[in-house]
Amino acid sequence: MIDKATVQKITDAADIVEVVSDYVHLIKRGRNYVGLCPFHNEKTPSFSVNSVRNFCYCFSCKKGGSPVNFIMEKEGLTYHDALLHLASKYNIKVEEKELSDDERRQLNERESLLVANEWAASRMEKDLRDTEEGRSVGLQYLYQRGVTEEAIKKFRLGYNLDSGHALTDAAKLDAMDISSLSQVGVLGESQKMPGTYYDRFRGRVIFPVLNASGKVVALGGRDLKGGMAKYINSPESAIYKKSNELYGIFQAKSEIAKQDCCYLVEGYMDVIGMWQAGMENVVASSGTALTDGQIAMIHRFTDNITLIYDGDAAGIKASLRGIDMLLAHKMNVKVLLLPDGHDPDSFARANTPENFRKYVQEHATDIIRFKAQVLLKDIGNDPQRRVNAIQSVVQSLAHIPDKVKRNVYVQECSRILGVSEEVIESAVEKSRSDVMEQQRHQRQSGEIDRMKQDEQNPQPDLNKQLRPSKGREITEMYPFYPFERNVVYQCVRYGILDFCEVEFDDGTTDMINVAEFVAEEIQDDEIWFTFPAFAKTFNRILDLKEEFLNDRVAFNVNLEKEKKELLKSGYDEIASKNMSMEEIRRAERMLDERVNDEMAKRRFEFARYFVEQKLSSHHDDDVRRTVTEAMNEEQPLSNIYLRNNPVSERKMELDRMRMLVPRGVLEWKNELLNQRIRAKMKQLDSLLGHAEPAEQQNIILEIQALMEKRGQLGKVMGDRTIGTKIK
Ligand code: UTP
Ligand code: MN
Repeated sequence: MIDKATVQKITDAADIVEVVSDYVHLIKRGRNYVGLCPFHNEKTPSFSVNSVRNFCYCFSCKKGGSPVNFIMEKEGLTYHDALLHLASKYNIKVEEKELSDDERRQLNERESLLVANEWAASRMEKDLRDTEEGRSVGLQYLYQRGVTEEAIKKFRLGYNLDSGHALTDAAKLDAMDISSLSQVGVLGESQKMPGTYYDRFRGRVIFPVLNASGKVVALGGRDLKGGMAKYINSPESAIYKKSNELYGIFQAKSEIAKQDCCYLVEGYMDVIGMWQAGMENVVASSGTALTDGQIAMIHRFTDNITLIYDGDAAGIKASLRGIDMLLAHKMNVKVLLLPDGHDPDSFARANTPENFRKYVQEHATDIIRFKAQVLLKDIGNDPQRRVNAIQSVVQSLAHIPDKVKRNVYVQECSRILGVSEEVIESAVEKSRSDVMEQQRHQRQSGEIDRMKQDEQNPQPDLNKQLRPSKGREITEMYPFYPFERNVVYQCVRYGILDFCEVEFDDGTTDMINVAEFVAEEIQDDEIWFTFPAFAKTFNRILDLKEEFLNDRVAFNVNLEKEKKELLKSGYDEIASKNMSMEEIRRAERMLDERVNDEMAKRRFEFARYFVEQKLSSHHDDDVRRTVTEAMNEEQPLSNIYLRNNPVSERKMELDRMRMLVPRGVLEWKNELLNQRIRAKMKQLDSLLGHAEPAEQQNIILEIQALMEKRGQLGKVMGDRTIGTKIK
């Protein structure tokens, strides 16, 4: 947990223009900045960044939000990790609270292992270039293999000098923790002489493995001398679980999301080869079969994966491994075989990038089709092998969760395998129940572990939606949903602005804000927000009042200071000019006016954007989403009114608030009456014929009363709004 004050510090420091600029080239356009949206592919900029409101938004794909939202989305991080990310960007020290001693120890241990790895990786990056041996051996090797400067930098390649103690010596000089360096396997401890260390990666070119947030969790070292082990890798440690990492994910993740597709290759050099050929959405499983954890990591960024293997027998076999698991994860899987004997790295060097990309596009085959074809080739005339092949395809089909998709494949496989659709379908459905039983079993045994893991390391569910997609379903559960949404959105925009004076019984008066006005109004009718995310958000807005009043005092003090300075420098400037008394007086009057107006504008904006500033980075997903959506949906004021006329801009906003907020509340109440009337009518229907006339009469009276009330409401609202539907 990061404490509240630090969260505030981070969100205050994080400047949307600076944060977005790390990813997007921004151009100033009037009061805003625009650029190419980093969340989808586009040629004309629809991504807009508003520096006053510290907010970004894509008009086309609708993604964006506060700096925290942006980082969560862009880096695929949790709320917590996005804050840490921003804290480190702005050099804000974060003290995590509420950790037990044990947790703190673990965290410190992880931290020191990460420090050790980072130190080693940077050191060896430097040694690759800054030492004679690094250049003539390491760099030479990379150049010879066609690795570009750009790739060396991007993938942070390095070189461990061959002496066997270069890194050990440097570590001592830099006062690094030797035990951490040895735990992450950068240094090895001599068995003959415990307490003495050597460089485990000596004489090797280094490939650092970065996790999704860019931390060095492991190293791979490529042998250059034809030794026994081509690569050696870091051992598993508190920061490195091999089965949960993918080489290249940090460099590839945004491109994977953007292309909505991920290439999976086998090795370090394959990633680099593909990257150099312009296919940057590539990661490697580093010679092992894919794991659930790795698939889940890819799945955070895309549903589509293309496996790329060597076209030899081993490559074909490898490509068929693990596909059932991918299918079960609802991934769309394709496979691409390179010509026999080629891996992506060698193929990239044998072809131009254009030809390589073309080959990939043309040869990627759907995995099920591929599997059926491959197996069919092997059958010959052997009936048993034929049965096995069909069984194996059926097995894969049974792992596809989506029935419609499964059926499409059943048809296609029936054609390829020459077996009737009915036979395949019934086999698949039978196998499907086994698969589900199996999965249930795995889930149950893995559940507790996973729950623990999730707690420590919650993953953002990027696909999770605040509300079900179908409007019908939601209004069945929450009949006032659209009305509540309209009102809560208005309160995100205007909630803290002054609404009106109210007089209390004891004769005192007080100013209530827009949100309080709404609260009073709906409580009058004994209603409240029923949709949980709206109720939470609305309560947070009400809570903000005290903070607002306090902050406003400080804000006004500063503003006063600024005003004085502005006036002073303005007067000085006027005085420095050669002007008549008359001209001076006029200039001073204009200056006063300009400054006062500027101050009024700032005061207005302070209140107008207070709620969104406070809540668009709120830790609660529901609140943050609601606020972000309200901001996204906002229609900008028409430019005609705005041009060079700041007074009318403020006035327009206030007019709009005075109209929209009460209207939203009235429409909500009107709907409430409609529903009550409908319910009474139904009741009356069911009583007709077999109830006391007096009872019926009562209901009719109730209905009449409700209708009258509705009529009064209608007068208040004006007929214009009664019939309007809120979308
Ligand atoms: P490959 O043998 O295909 O190596 O192993 P490569 O990536 O093509 O490397 P170059 O082109 O010969 O330099 C694929 C991956 O398996 C792991 C590495 O991650 C490697 O990139 N591997 C392989 C090891 O960890 N150790 C080994 O000894 C060999
Ligand atoms: Mn290779």
